[in-house]
Amino acid sequence: MTVRINNNFSNPETPTGGQGALIFAIESSCDETSAAVCRDGKILSNFIAGQKVHEKYGGVVPELASRAHMQNIVPVVDAALKQANIELEEIDAIAFTQSPGLIGSLLVGSQFAKSMALALNKPLIAVHHMQAHVLSNLIPEKKPSFPFLCLTVSGGHTQIVLANSATELKVIGETLDDAAGEAFDKSAKLLGLPYPGGPLIDKYAKDGNGEKFSFAEPQIEGLDFSFSGLKTSILYFLQKQVRNDAHFVQNNLADLCASIQNRIITILLKKYKRAALQTGITNLCIAGGVSANSGLRKAFNDMCSQNNWKAFIPPFEYCTDNAAMIAITAYFKYIQKDFADLSTTASARATWD
Ligand code: KG4
Ligand code: ZN
Repeated sequence: MTVRINNNFSNPETPTGGQGALIFAIESSCDETSAAVCRDGKILSNFIAGQKVHEKYGGVVPELASRAHMQNIVPVVDAALKQANIELEEIDAIAFTQSPGLIGSLLVGSQFAKSMALALNKPLIAVHHMQAHVLSNLIPEKKPSFPFLCLTVSGGHTQIVLANSATELKVIGETLDDAAGEAFDKSAKLLGLPYPGGPLIDKYAKDGNGEKFSFAEPQIEGLDFSFSGLKTSILYFLQKQVRNDAHFVQNNLADLCASIQNRIITILLKKYKRAALQTGITNLCIAGGVSANSGLRKAFNDMCSQNNWKAFIPPFEYCTDNAAMIAITAYFKYIQKDFADLSTTASARATWD
């Protein structure tokens, strides 16, 4: 990649105000290095490089993740630019995930984005990763109108968000402990499955009976969630069964996966239904890595059609971490001229506002 160096960053080129805006975005908050390009809110490219290095450790190793981002970022950026068939000079703004995430991983993406903004003399846009998951629902042709609700279920977060506009998002419910993705991954670990276990539970659950085993359902007030009790309930159940039958897990894997998945889905949708009834909002979305789960997608669609609500689910490539969602979020910030300073720093934790 060749970049033109321009030291006049104190006065980046005047943005056009949204018409035909070409946004280049980088996502590097966890273990996916991704770059995307969008023009006027339409995705032209979305390139994602995963990191296999973590599989043998049973979870993401932060230091290894930042090293892999360092190796991946230049080829990923290059691929996204080529896929979009654009020249660097055409870009109107550079966006990046500022928070939340692993700090070493975030720093790779943020430093790269800042360097590009400085070299190209273009404005910089800092994006909140969880807000971007919500707005991934605005990528497809079929989009929700405002106001809408979004159940965001990822590896680190579980939230119900009320969106009054693309830039007015409010969390109205969230997990008090583990996230839904963690509940999937930790349960999978108890079953001896490798990381990330969510997609494997989904796969085995397809051949299982979700009513076979019953696991604890938390009794939490309001719109908040809790998943730590479920993990403990699965652990004690398995310990007891394995004492009598050493092959219990192998012999019941599909039913165990289906029952665990079933319980996670009922916990999620019970609260989501309550949120819809309380707010009276009938446009309902899901987002985040766990929204790739086939059982959740089906149960969510069923719940919406039974209640005459409109259901929106992003295509698979926009459910797990991706830069397209960063680009679309940045597009709305671009219209509002909500730009970041070069002194903006990445942050592991994020405030919502
Ligand atoms: O949104 P995401 O890619 O990264 C975070 O921001 O955390 O979510 C990753 C999470 C992991 O916990 C992974 O196991 C889960 O999403 N996941 C799934 C499925 N695909 C990804 N969980 C259940 N079923 C799936 N098909
Ligand atoms: Zn995510």
